This record gives sequence, C-alpha cells and structure tokens, in this order.
Amino acid sequence: MGTLLKITLIGVLLALLGERIFQFSHRFNVFREIEPIDLPNCQLLDGIEYGAEDIEILPDGLAFISSGLKYPGMFSFAPGRSGEIFLLDLNEEIPRPSSLRISRGFDLSSFAPHGLSAYIDEDDAVYLFVVNHPQYKSTVEIFKYEEEENVLVHLKTVKHPSLYNVNDVVALGPESFYATNDYYFTDFILRHVEPLVGLRWTNVVYYSPEDVREVASGFYNANGIAMSLDEKFIYVADILGKTITVFDKHDDYALSPVKVLQLETLVDNLWVDPVTGDIWTGGHPNGLKLAKYSAADPPGSEVVRIQNIHSDDPVVTTVYANNGSVLQGSSSAAVWENKLLVGTIFHKALYCHLE
Ligand SMILES: *[C@@H]1O[C@H](CO)[C@@H](O)[C@H](O)[C@H]1NC(C)=O
Repeated sequence: MGTLLKITLIGVLLALLGERIFQFSHRFNVFREIEPIDLPNCQLLDGIEYGAEDIEILPDGLAFISSGLKYPGMFSFAPGRSGEIFLLDLNEEIPRPSSLRISRGFDLSSFAPHGLSAYIDEDDAVYLFVVNHPQYKSTVEIFKYEEEENVLVHLKTVKHPSLYNVNDVVALGPESFYATNDYYFTDFILRHVEPLVGLRWTNVVYYSPEDVREVASGFYNANGIAMSLDEKFIYVADILGKTITVFDKHDDYALSPVKVLQLETLVDNLWVDPVTGDIWTGGHPNGLKLAKYSAADPPGSEVVRIQNIHSDDPVVTTVYANNGSVLQGSSSAAVWENKLLVGTIFHKALYCHLE
C-alpha cells in the first residue's frame, strides 16, 4: 500500500473515532456539571436506602415505589438484597414508607423491580404492573393490590420474546400494557457496547394476551413511558436521545409520532400530574457519572417539569437540581396535590412540600 493511501486511511479512521467519541460525550452529557437548585421543604424518606426507581400514585394519594433494581451494568449498594415495593400515603403530613407484603408463591429472592404502572378497573380494583428482572431477565408482573389486607396478590407473570429488555410500562387494562425495551441486545457484553455505539434500535411494544406487536421504534434507549390524562397520547422518554416523543394513541393501540421535545437532562421515568397534565421527570445530569459510580464524585439529580407539551411553546423548568450531596441518580419525580416525590435508581428518595 502506498504511504499516501495509508496516511489517508489512518486519517479517516481517526476522524470516525473522533466523531464517535464526540457523539458519545454529547449523548451522555460527559462534561456537564449542574448549578444546584434547592427546594425549601424537603426531607429524605425514612427506610428507603436502595433505590426508588419508579413511583406510581393512585388518585387517593397512595404511592407505590419500586426499590432494589438489579440490572446489568447498573450500580447497587446492596447487590445481594431482594427488591421490594414500598407503599406510602401522601395524605399524611410526613409519610412513612412501608415495605408491602407480597402474596405467597411469588419468588421474592429474585425480585428486582423496575418500572411501575397501575390500572384501576370499573369496580375500583387496583392492578399494579411491575417490570421485574429475575436473573437479569425481563418479565412484567401483574399484582392486585388488596387495600384491606395491605398486600400485593400476585396474579400473573408476563414473558414474551418481544419483551426482552423491558424498562417501563403503562397499564391499559387488567392484562394489557405498553412497554419500552431499553436495549436491543440481550447479550451481557453487547449490552455494554450498545450505548457507546449509539444505535437507535430500541422500541415500544403493545402487549395483550391476544396480540403483541411493536408500535414505535428508533430510540437510542426507550425508557419512561406515560399516558396523557385524556388517554389520547403516549409520552416516551429516550434517555440517551434526551427527548420526549409524543405519540397519538389510536383505537387499535397503534402509535403515530406527533412531536419530539429535546431536553438537556438524560430523561428517565415520566409522570403526568393528575390535575394539570404537566409531565414531570427525574433526569440524570451526567450519564458518565451514573455509569461509573464513584462516591467521591457521585451522579447528581435533576427534576424537570414540562408544561403544555402539546402547544408550540412547551415550558421546560428545572425544579430541583443537586450534585449528589443529597440525592444521587434521580430516575423519577411524581406530584400529588402539593407534594413531590423524587426517586433514584439505587440511592434514596426525597419528599417535598411544594409552595
Ligand atoms: C456538591 O455541592 C456541595 C454544596 O452544595 C459542595 O459542598 C460539594 O463539594 C459538592 N460536591 C461535589 C462532588 O461537587
């Protein structure tokens, strides 16, 4: 090979590599540091020490929190500990989380809960859908919450080849839901490479016992999913794209994209304010700090509210920002009346009274 050709080839390779590194640092906000934004009336919730990855609040103010996520590549302070679902009542002045009892027969030792969503039927029965990762696999567990006995009764484990890396769900009926897959590869090594390469190969799946199909695709890492108050739209967070996509939800559960909102934070779970319809999210200021956990330089937390996403001028407000000194790796933020709950992937949970 001629010297000139070699130099040209090396130059092209270096340019490609440089472009990849640039794209990677951009997607992960590698160099981003945040200015703190404090909220006045906040306290950490007692007893939550190993994560509050997702939060679901019922119309009467009962909140469910998933804790103890174990997921390939994700840091945990207690990798040997089983996961649990906490319950707390936001009607109380200072809510006390309690770990919910789960009916006999469900394998608690491998419980690693992730995304949550509740469905309430016409008789007010509450079904809680919980994404689970027993042995690092993906299932969706359907429980019925019996309020009188204060227990989650396990009804069903949903497994399906299309539900291979489930992150979050939106319940649509007692047995049907939308789910996001956040990785394309299930292989342990390839999963670690995938976010670095930056493929937009992850998707949203519709599931019912009779019908399972992909309804949206083209996300770097499809993450939180939520439904608008009128149930006509679905919102999907792409954590590495740092976007929220609004979809029209059709009668046959097909989704068609309406618009994409670009954010700065790595947007994780989504919550729709039951009164205003605003979207709240717990986001990650810096994805590299999250991926390479260090107690000396921990990942921070960021709570972002999006108002009027359907209008031409959505208003995006960072409500809370912390460098990890209080709260590390926020993944969820949910409001009920004037109370705010902020959850994290593997750290604590914050409870605030909003002004
Ligand atoms: C985080 O912020 C606090 C003050 O808000 C500061 O004392 C601390 O050094 C900061 N930590 C890091 C890792 O930057």
